[in-house]
Amino acid sequence: MQDQDKTSKLWGGRFNEPTDAFVQRFTASVDFDRRLYAHDIEGSLAHASMLCRCHILSQQELEKIRTGLEEIRQEIESGNFAWSLELEDVHMNIEARLTEKIGITGKKLHTGRSRNDQVATDIRLYLRQQIDIICAEITRLQLGLVELASAEADTIMPGFTHLQTAQPVSFGHHLLAWSAMLDRDYGRLRDCRRRMNQSPLGAAALAGTTYPIDRHYTAELLGFDMPTENSLDSVSDRDFAIEFCAAASLVMTHLSRFSEELVLWTSAQFNFVRLPDRFCTGSSIMPQKKNPDVPELVRGKAGRVSGHLLSLLMLMKAQPLAYNKDNQEDKEPLFDAVDTVRDSLKAYADMVPNISANREVMYQAARRGFATATDLADYLVRKGTAFRDAHEVVGKAVAFGVEQGRDLSELSLEELQAFSSAIDEDVFKALSLEGSIAARNHIGGTAPAQVRAAVDQSLHRLRQRGQKLAHQAARVPE
Ligand code: ARG
Repeated sequence: MQDQDKTSKLWGGRFNEPTDAFVQRFTASVDFDRRLYAHDIEGSLAHASMLCRCHILSQQELEKIRTGLEEIRQEIESGNFAWSLELEDVHMNIEARLTEKIGITGKKLHTGRSRNDQVATDIRLYLRQQIDIICAEITRLQLGLVELASAEADTIMPGFTHLQTAQPVSFGHHLLAWSAMLDRDYGRLRDCRRRMNQSPLGAAALAGTTYPIDRHYTAELLGFDMPTENSLDSVSDRDFAIEFCAAASLVMTHLSRFSEELVLWTSAQFNFVRLPDRFCTGSSIMPQKKNPDVPELVRGKAGRVSGHLLSLLMLMKAQPLAYNKDNQEDKEPLFDAVDTVRDSLKAYADMVPNISANREVMYQAARRGFATATDLADYLVRKGTAFRDAHEVVGKAVAFGVEQGRDLSELSLEELQAFSSAIDEDVFKALSLEGSIAARNHIGGTAPAQVRAAVDQSLHRLRQRGQKLAHQAARVPE
């Protein structure tokens, strides 16, 4: 017989000496996994209800467990819970406290369960809730973009390729491009949520359990679509965390591209837009400075989320089935990815409706850089010139304009006609910025009429989505 006093651990039966103090700290996860407490309690309540329904626990025992767990939830939320490193993780902290409160019944909660299926359940519940919050933030940000796009449908700016002026575009159209990226992000996160929404409970340590449990019942109580299929896979799978980090990395990549443009556009050199003071900070030495800190920080934070994706991929790549302690390392990257993407989206959703366009500056910028050169070529094609020949003619006209320091629209009819006799008085309509954007009047084009139609469609979709999310949120326990 081993001496129970040698170690006070919940798993201490077969141990002959206490854990080394450093090893205890090294292996503990409670400092970070305590954020799962609400999901841990939720999972335990469902597990206990199932045990009772399957006649493994009595109704009286279930009631005791329920009351105990609810009290523990309150203790944690009011800051009166003594978290202990010796108890290693959130699961054993809560279980030990339950036993302290309700005695031997507390020790029965873990019947037919292991921390392996418990933690796999907790993370899924946590991440599912966070995905819903993140999806709501994406939607709020998109609504801000689309509403701004509506107000700026007629605002003309230079569109760029290679960061060189290419063709004029509507600023509203540019804003909708950002929203289009976020549409895909939203879809990816919903897809990730759909695939992860299965209950690992009942897989126990790895092989399932000998008790007559009902996995469908716990799945249903926890709002999962169904139980997971294979017990070995259930306790070891962290694909969902990787998928989430991949989707989150793309969200951050998009926000980072967006940030890059805002940083450029708020510079004195571009001066296309203004951000409200409350989203910027100053310099401690240069009094004139107003720095776009929020976009810069978001751009910087994109790297950390991609880093977490790589951490999780590396964490999983060499693990044999089934659970390994390595898996405890999934939490910090995942939590930080969640926090980072949530905060970045919040900052952007708050900031975007307050972006103001310097319309005149944008317009004047579009007038420089021969933005309507393609329009002149298209004009010549309409007059019967082959496109390649038209391209050549316009190239020469541009070279002349560069030499003269004048835009194509600033050349006289006679000057233009020297390059092609097909050119007529009506050329100036084609060369105007307004004419240029209005002419791109097809689905996905930059004509203000198309931008307005796209705004209407987006608003309709986003409102529908908002309703669906609100409905779902009502079902998700906080
Ligand atoms: N803290 C552990 C984790 O996060 C819980 C599961 C522990 N299971 C075990 N067999 N040691 O993964």
